[in-house]
Order: sequence, then C-alpha cells, then structure tokens
Amino acid sequence: MRAFSSFILLASIVPTVLSVKTQDFKTCSQAGFCRRGRALATRASESATSWKSPYSIDPNTVFIAPNQASFTASVKSSLYPAISFGLDVRVHDDGVVRVRMDEVNGLGKRYDEAASWALIAEPKISSSIQWKVGKKDVRAIYGKGVEVVIEFEPLKVTLLKNGQEEIVLNGRGLLHMEHFRKKEEPKLAVEAEVPEEGLNADDAQKVVKLENPRAWFEGESEDAYWEESFSSWTDTKPKGPQSLFIDVTFPNHGHVYGIPQHASTLDLRTTTGEDPYYSDPYRLYNADTFEYLADSTMSLYGSIPLMHAHSTDSTVGVFNAIGSETWVDISHPTPKSTETYWISESGILDIFLMPGPTPKDVFAQYSSLTGTQALPADWAIGYHQCRWNYISSEDIRTVQKKFDEADMPVDVFWLDIEYAEDHKYFIWDKKNFPDPVDMINDVQDTSRKMVIIIDPHLKRVSSYPVYQEAVERNVLVKQKDGTSEYEGWCWSGSSAWVDFFNPASWDWWKTLFKTHSLGDGKFSWVESTENVYIWNDMNEPAIFNGPEISMPRDNIHYGGWEHRDVHNINGMLFSNLTSQAVMERSTPYKRPFVLTRSFYAGSQRFGAMWTGDNLGTWEHMAVGIKMVLANSIAGFAFSGSDVGGFFGNPEPEMLVRWYHVGAFSPFFRAHAHIDTKRREPFLLDEPYKSIVKDILRLRYSMLPIWYTAFRESSVTGLPVVRPHYVVFPKDEGGFSIDDQFFVGGSGILVKPVTEKGVTEASVYIPEDEVYYDYFSQHAYRSAAKGKNITVPAALHQLPLLIRGGSILPTRERPRRSSTLMKQDPFTLRVALDKTGFNARGELYLDDGTTYSHQEGQFVWKEFKSEKQSKNVIKISSHDLGSEKPTEAVDGVALTTYDGGNAFAKSISSVRVEKLVVLGVASKPKGVKLGGKELEWEYTPGVGAQESKKEGIASVLVIKDPKVAITTDWEISIQL
Ligand code: NOJ
Repeated sequence: MRAFSSFILLASIVPTVLSVKTQDFKTCSQAGFCRRGRALATRASESATSWKSPYSIDPNTVFIAPNQASFTASVKSSLYPAISFGLDVRVHDDGVVRVRMDEVNGLGKRYDEAASWALIAEPKISSSIQWKVGKKDVRAIYGKGVEVVIEFEPLKVTLLKNGQEEIVLNGRGLLHMEHFRKKEEPKLAVEAEVPEEGLNADDAQKVVKLENPRAWFEGESEDAYWEESFSSWTDTKPKGPQSLFIDVTFPNHGHVYGIPQHASTLDLRTTTGEDPYYSDPYRLYNADTFEYLADSTMSLYGSIPLMHAHSTDSTVGVFNAIGSETWVDISHPTPKSTETYWISESGILDIFLMPGPTPKDVFAQYSSLTGTQALPADWAIGYHQCRWNYISSEDIRTVQKKFDEADMPVDVFWLDIEYAEDHKYFIWDKKNFPDPVDMINDVQDTSRKMVIIIDPHLKRVSSYPVYQEAVERNVLVKQKDGTSEYEGWCWSGSSAWVDFFNPASWDWWKTLFKTHSLGDGKFSWVESTENVYIWNDMNEPAIFNGPEISMPRDNIHYGGWEHRDVHNINGMLFSNLTSQAVMERSTPYKRPFVLTRSFYAGSQRFGAMWTGDNLGTWEHMAVGIKMVLANSIAGFAFSGSDVGGFFGNPEPEMLVRWYHVGAFSPFFRAHAHIDTKRREPFLLDEPYKSIVKDILRLRYSMLPIWYTAFRESSVTGLPVVRPHYVVFPKDEGGFSIDDQFFVGGSGILVKPVTEKGVTEASVYIPEDEVYYDYFSQHAYRSAAKGKNITVPAALHQLPLLIRGGSILPTRERPRRSSTLMKQDPFTLRVALDKTGFNARGELYLDDGTTYSHQEGQFVWKEFKSEKQSKNVIKISSHDLGSEKPTEAVDGVALTTYDGGNAFAKSISSVRVEKLVVLGVASKPKGVKLGGKELEWEYTPGVGAQESKKEGIASVLVIKDPKVAITTDWEISIQL
C-alpha cells in the first residue's frame, strides 16, 4: 500500500507511469446513496408514463412572517403522508434566495450546521419583499425584475429574471429527502410489483409505479440502507438512509463552472444524457487521491459546492451548503440549457440561489455569504521554495546561499514532515535540526520567512505533549461508540485526530503556536519564532488505513454528529483554527499565512490552497491551470499547484514551462516528492537557469500588480486570476477557454505553454482592441467578435499580453526577496487603447503584514491616460482612497497622505522612475510635468490608433519624472 511504503520512506525509484489506484476510491455505483440517486434519475428519464414529484406544499400551512421576512410552509411527500418537512424560503438584502428544508419531528435529526461553518454571518433578510400568496403558488418580485416563485404541487422553486427561468429546483421532480425510519419497516417491494411475465420493461415499470409508487420512487429494494461495505471496510449506518437528492436546472444557461476540486476543464462536462463525456458524476468527497488522474470527475482534496451558470446575457450561481459526500451529474438537454442533479449522503436542504446578473454580481453575492479571500501578507505572493524535505538546518542555509549566489529571488523556505521527530509536529528532530531558532533567524536575516508543516494526526504516545494535552481535554475524534478515541494510521504511525468541531479544542490549539513559554508545563512552540508560518496538509483527513484513505463515516464528532455529516468541512476547521492561532500569536496581530490541502466553502478566509500531489507531466501542468481557475471562481483565489509536479523528475524544458505557470499563479511554490532528484532552479544548466531566473524576476517585478489584484479580491470577491467568461461575459467565444486568463483587473492576459517543443502559441483575443506583447511590444489586433492570434512562444518566450487601455505598475530592480523591494521605485507601463489616448490602472500598497490598512494606512492610486485636447495626451495619478484631497501646484501635487498615514509617509520617497507609453501616434513635440519639460525618448512604431496595423508599437520612455508614488501628478504629451 502506498501509504506505508512512503511512511517508512523507502526511497524507491518513482515509476515512469504513475496513476491513481482507482480501486481505493468509490465510483457512484459503489456508493449506496449515489446508486439510489442515480437510479431514481434513470427511472424518471426512462419513464414511459408521466409522473410527478411526490413532494408538495400544504397550502393551509403557508405562513408569511409579519415583517415579510420569510415564507414557511409544511411539505409532505405523497409516499409518506405521516412524515413532515418544513420549508423556509427567504430573500437576502442583495437578492440572494435561501431555500431550506428539513424533516420535522422525525426519528432523527439531520445535520443542519454546514452553512454555519461556511457563512461569515447570518445574512440580512430583505425588508422590501412582498410575498403574494396565490392558490397554487407564492411569489415575490424584487430588485431588477427578479422573481422567486414557489409552486405548491409538486413543490418547485423557480428564480426568474425578466420573466425568464434562471434556476429551477425540483423542476425534474428528483427532490428526495430520505426520512429517518425504523429498520423493521416493511420492505418496499411487494408481490404485485414483481413484473408479470410477458410484460416488457416499460410496462413492468408502469405496474410498479402505479401500484407501488414508493417502490418506484425509492427503488424496489433497500439498497445499502443500514450497512455498506467497500473493499475491506464496513460502514455501519445506525441512522439508516438519510440522503438528499435535488435537481437544479438552468433552462437558459449552456455553461456551468465551479464545484472544485476536480482535475478537469473549467467549463464542466456532461456526465449524463446522450453521449456523456464522463461516466461518473463530479464527486465532492475530500480525499487524498494519491497520483490523481489529469482528466477525471474523481474527488480530490477539497470541495466547494458552488456552481456558476452562464450565458451571454446572464450569470447566476448556486451554493449548496452541504458538508457530506455529494455527487453532481451534469447534462445539456440543449446546447443552451443545463440540468444538474446533486446527490448527497446526509444533511438538510440549504441552497442559496444567486441571481447575478453578471459574474461580478455573483462574486459579490457569494462573498457576502462566505467571505472574500483574506488579503495575504505581501511576501506570501512571492516565490516559495519547498521540497519533501530539506533535511537539516544546514541544508536550509545552503539552499538559501545558492539562491543568493544565483541572484534568484525567493521569499520563503519550507520544511516538510521530516523536521519533526517521529513526525510529532512542533517537536524538532534535533539530530538534523539542532538549532532551529538560529536557522529560522538566519532566514529572517535575509528578509525571508519559513513555512513549516503541522499535520492534523497526533502520534499516540504519552511522551508527545500535544497528544497528551488533547487527551486530557477530551478533544479527540471518537469511534462510532461515541466515547472511545479513534485510532488510525498516518505519517506518525498510530495516531489520533483533534476534533475541531469541538469548541474546547479551539483556544487550546491556539496556545500551541505561542512562541513564548506558557508555564505550568503547558506546551507552546518556544522553538519557533514569529517568522514561521504554517502548512496544513493531510486534513481531508488522510488516514492510510481508513476507508478511501480517510476516516470511517460512522466516527463521531462533537455534538454527536457522524463523520459522514461533516466530512467535507473537516479540513477547513483545521486551517481556520491554525490561521487564527498564527494571527493571534503576535501583538498587534499580523496577517497569518496558512496553506491548506483540504478546503470547503469559506476556506478562502484562512489562507491559501494548492492542488496537492500532481505528477510531473505536461497533462498535469495543463490541468493545474484549469484547477486554479475553478478554485478561483469558487472564492478560493489564493491557489496554485506544485511547480515541477510533485512526482517525477521533470526534464529542464518542462521545469521551465512550469515556472511560467507558477509565476502566473496566485500562489507560487515549487515542491517535490522525497524520492525525486533535487531540482531547485539554481541547479539547472544554461540556458534554463537564466530563463528561470528571468521568470522569477518577472514575478517579482509584477508583485505590485498581483498585490493590487489580491486587494481587489479581498474587497469584492472577484478572483485574482480571471477566466474569459468572467472578464468578457458576453463573448461566447471565450466561454470554454481555460488555458489563458487575465490577472486581476490589470489587463494582463497570459497563456502559459503546457506542451513540449512549442515555438508558437495561439492566443484568443476577445475584443476589437490592440493587445501588446509584454516583452517585444508587438501590437496585435483582433476583431469585434474575437480572434486567435499567433505569438512567439519558444522556451524563453511567454505568451504575455497587455490589453490596450491598461496601465501597469511594476518594480524592476532585481532583489533577493520582496521585503527588500519596499522602497524601490516604480515603472508605469501605459498601454494606450485603440483611440490612441486612453488607458487606466490601479496600484494598491500597504505595509503588507499588519492590519493597519483597515485603519486607513494604505496608498491606493488610480493612473489614467486620456485625451486632454486633440493633440495632447494627459497621464495622471490620483488617489482612490486618500484621507485628504489633492492640492496640485503646477501639476505636481503635495503629498496627499500627510495626515497620520504612517504607511504613506514611510514610502514618501518612493518615486516613479520611468513611464513606458506604448502606441503613441507620433513623436511628441514635448512631454511636460506641470510646466517642466521632462527627459524622454521615442522609438517610432505602430500607433495604438492605427486599427489596421500590426507590428512593434511605438515606445515613448519618459525618464525619471521625479514624482513620488504617493503624490498626485499630471504629465502631458504634446503630439
Ligand atoms: C502529502 C502532500 O500532498 C505533500 O505535498 C507532502 O510533501 C507530503 N504529504 C509529505 O508531507
């Protein structure tokens, strides 16, 4: 078994063809509830006679709260008249509709806390809704033509916009909430339902359906109701069947995106219907899918049950707040419509319908529910160097030295599990790390940080204080009896797991990260410093001897909930508490950095994620981009994949291309398996080494662009890397594009090469605009409907374009780490749009590590280029968020941040050292700042306004205008 071979670190040669052990993970047909869910959908679609959903609202129970806040009603299933369900529909202030349904007074209680972990707060209910109760339905019209209609019989919820159906729940009648029942209830199938001889299949189905609709709807046998086996494991199901099926249809949207994490395309593929691309539904069940496939619906490490549905005129979203295993089938009955079907193992129905109407609106709506990406520390968006493992303090020091000798920037060195004695996290292996604090300080002395791994499995030995304290506090996950400590195997051998659902674990967990002694014999990490940040791995949780390499579903968490109820949320609580611990260990608080492998909706509030154990193959490199985009649109903007591929030994060409991918990922880290050869970039031969050095420097020069994009994401919910449909929602040509993307709102469009031996690449330009090659300044043109252009893409050439109309702030002095760049001057690249005058950009800066920006300690500038008169281009800088209005004298403003903004003061001597203006129509007659002539140089070339011309653009370099980045100023270019 892989786990044990890795565990005892048998450094075997990595085979050339690696592939997931598919037999370790269930297919839908191996999961009882998924089988039942799919079987119902199949019966429904094959049904020769009409049938309708058994669920309906009892009109006599309809209740509108006196303040019109919500609508509630009792729901019955005609199959089980004695069972009741409660439905609650409410509309939030921003137009999001929340639909909840739970069994009422049942024999058991369904898990109803998933949303409480995902949401930042209980959403505000709109006070302006007017529910209209009719004979057959209840409806409310609100906002801009948005309407929600709840039909009584059968139960159906529809969100409409301008009269058009946008999202329909239970339109196909597949809603089913398996109620709690007693085991001894009579079998569903009865004699009469056995098809009579001579009946064909359709007729036989009719007989069953008419004579015993229950058996038709639920299946004729109790399939895996009370127990289920997989491989050598048995899942006891003391609560019996409790799954939840719901069909969600988008009648006017042909594309759906989201529900990460899968190694698949961004535009989700069909899993059912005619000629499906995949045979299994997309699975959401956090798992350590070792050596995963590069094109599959198999589960990976995290799950975000968020889906966007998109068409040229509308984007809507659905967030299904469920914590249990969920499978999602997708089909397109027509190219312009989508049917989805969500099959979950347990939990209540708790669905949020986001009306859009644009992608931007859906991002705002989703982030008002689950929060935005936490603004990272600035250094965290630099380059991270990791490997399993840097084996000693000396190793770390040597690697650091080699980076410096090679003049390669890097911000963070990482330690994987081998730093810890017997994999007891926090406890140093003193043989190899005799001087951990000195080592950390040596790294800090060069203005860099360390990230060290803390996994969730605790070695079960009494000499391990962390385990011992967890035992004493009784905060470990329990076996199915609810009282005995659960024991499983992971890196540390026999291990136990903290139950982070138990509030008693929270404060205790935070104390472990304090860097000072707590006294009383309590453990804290005194052998670390505040320069150490954290990596949370294996938090699905990964358990080598558990079912599907995870925890038995009948294990018990705090509150008596079964592991099955909370499985997909489990990993998020670990990174949540760790990130709080790291933040709170400093006074005043500092921004934490925690990388997590497992995640759920809301995890973006706690740090970064990466795509786990990818392979060093071109396919994995390519799919990593798609996965990062999928995570990004599901709120988790701070994401990346292991540069180089975790497994294998990538050839230099592949490694170089992977650095391009990494340099354009929000999270940029190289990592490698313990069995791989060393592959730090300084080890490369020429020309690869120089190319990678340039890539690293390119990333560092663009850090202001990335940081500005992160800041926007942390405020608006818009992703840091943005796929085409997000930026150009009306351009159908871009709806399935997921191999090129935009960086924030900067106007950077990148298409990393992910194939061997490439010298040219085709890039899709979505609009009639000039796009400039970042390096050669070649101006490309497109057409109103979008067009593919061919750009050079030899190994040293990255297809990187600037959209005409953008202004990019960069810092172009090579440094060893990002911290050393804080006083460096800026270059502004002004890429004129096709009018030949206009462009715009933004720059956001703050101290990068604390929360003082929340008190106004930041600098936020807008740069603009516009037509001042027929022959004058005016380029200006002004504040977007200053505390004091600008007072300009002769075009040069006084410092705007002179009233208590200590951060602005700290960078008041940082200047703009250069402006590079692309596409100026002709050689200027003069370039002035206020009345003063500036030094400049003009290289003739294609003008931005010459709509028919391609070729190297004209370049005007304005040298050292002597303006501070914090000031407002105006430069005029006289044509
Ligand atoms: C699995 C992680 O995915 C990988 O990145 C890490 O190196 C190993 N665990 C060892 O900690």
